[in-house]
Amino acid sequence: QTVYILNGPNLNLLGKRQPEIYGKETLQDIEVACGQIAEANGLKVRFLQSNAEHQLIDWIHEAREDACGIIINPAAYTHTSVALLDALGTFERPVFEVHISNVHKRESFRHHSYVSLRADGVIAGCGAQGYELALLRLIRLLGR
Ligand code: DQA
Repeated sequence: QTVYILNGPNLNLLGKRQPEIYGKETLQDIEVACGQIAEANGLKVRFLQSNAEHQLIDWIHEAREDACGIIINPAAYTHTSVALLDALGTFERPVFEVHISNVHKRESFRHHSYVSLRADGVIAGCGAQGYELALLRLIRLLGR
C-alpha cells in the first residue's frame, strides 16, 4: 500500500524559504522522517513536489489507481484552486491537508482553504512534524 505525500509551489525551497515562518527542516528531511514511519508500518511513500498546478492534479489522478491515502500541502494553491479541490473529489480514500505554519494566525487570505472542503483532517501550525502527525492518523485509519 502506498501513501502519496504531495507538496505544492515553493515548498522545494523549504529550509531556505522564510525559516522564521516555515522552519529550518527541508523537504528531504520530511521525506526521510515520513519514510521511516511508513516503513515501520508496512507502507510505501510516494513523496512529490511541484510548482505546477496541473502536475499536482495529474499525481492525484495517479493516486486514484494505487494510493491508500493522500497527504497534501497544497501551499498557495490551498487558497486559490478549485481544480485541486475537484481532483481530490475524484479520490475516494482518506485525504489529509497539512500546513507547516498556522495559516489562521496569518493574513486573512490564508484563512480560507478550498482543499479543506474535501480533506478528512487538517493539520496546521505543527511545523514539519505536521506531515508525521497526518501520516500517523492515516495509519490509524487504515487499521495498522
Ligand atoms: C503553507 C501555507 C500557505 O498559505 C503558503 O502559501 C505556503 C505554505 C504552509 O505549509 O504553511 O506556501 O501551505
